[in-house]
Amino acid sequence: MKNILITGAAGQIGSELTVALRHRYGDSNVIACGHKTKPDATLLESGPFASLDIRDFSALATIVEKQKIDTIFHLAGILSAVAEKNPQMAWDINMTGLTNVLETARTCGCAVFFPSSIGAFGPSTPPDNTPQLTIQRPQSIYGITKLTGELLCDYYFQKFGVDTRGLRFPGLISSETKPGGGTTDYAVEIFYAAVKCEKYSCFLKRGTRLDMMYMRDALRATISLMEADPARLTSRNAFNVTAMSFAPEDLFAEIKKIIPNFTMTYEVDPLRQAIADSWPNKMDDSEAARQWGWQPEYDLPAMTREMISTLSRRMENDGGK
Ligand code: SER
Repeated sequence: MKNILITGAAGQIGSELTVALRHRYGDSNVIACGHKTKPDATLLESGPFASLDIRDFSALATIVEKQKIDTIFHLAGILSAVAEKNPQMAWDINMTGLTNVLETARTCGCAVFFPSSIGAFGPSTPPDNTPQLTIQRPQSIYGITKLTGELLCDYYFQKFGVDTRGLRFPGLISSETKPGGGTTDYAVEIFYAAVKCEKYSCFLKRGTRLDMMYMRDALRATISLMEADPARLTSRNAFNVTAMSFAPEDLFAEIKKIIPNFTMTYEVDPLRQAIADSWPNKMDDSEAARQWGWQPEYDLPAMTREMISTLSRRMENDGGK
């Protein structure tokens, strides 16, 4: 990787991956791209930024050709709950975006990272220790775009030799950019309420167990996979990766160990509950461990401690806001 392009760079993963990759590969070698969302100062000041609608093929191809891009991290996409409210838009952005990236990669010789998700599974998937190769009949439009994306990435590798690699991310938890409209967002929102000593109303019900991961682990997983020796990869799209699996009451109990006065109620959102109910409880990520040495560093207690200390520090610096 010498010249890198990140689409969706202002989003939840992109905003932190851009900084991590600039640190590793040099600020000027990592071009961040985003559409509409105004990127924060760190992103704009730490290296090049280009405004791009991922549905615009020629704009994307021009940047890739001009900047001699060799690797594209394609993070632009619509998350599950927003997608379900506007399926046509989700299909357009998630699929037109990916086909544009893959076609550009094919003609310009780039490697591609594609983030799939626990959403690529469905209710007929085995919910516990979900294998990497298993039944995938997702029922959300988000899941359908992710599964199609996995297959399309494999197709471009097998048919055209494009070096595509992907991860099935669980819910990602971070103290930096908030996620935009996902089903697992409660696991981020809850921390903002907790550090402000506000009551939190959870939109998923008790017992809804889902895979989760702290952002630092997600960044390490992404970079490790893209740096992995291709000779070791017998699969590509997409690897199960997870770090912890919990239900809302488990996270609540963990936060209460640090903030004993914290309170939470439940106000279930049927749309997001139905999506969550169709996803696995816990994935088996042993293939990622075997093929490229994946190992998470943050479990539930470690993630909770770091989220609370980071957000509390920020709140103090901002004068309690
Ligand atoms: N976090 C995502 C969502 O909830 C799942 O990949 O949509």
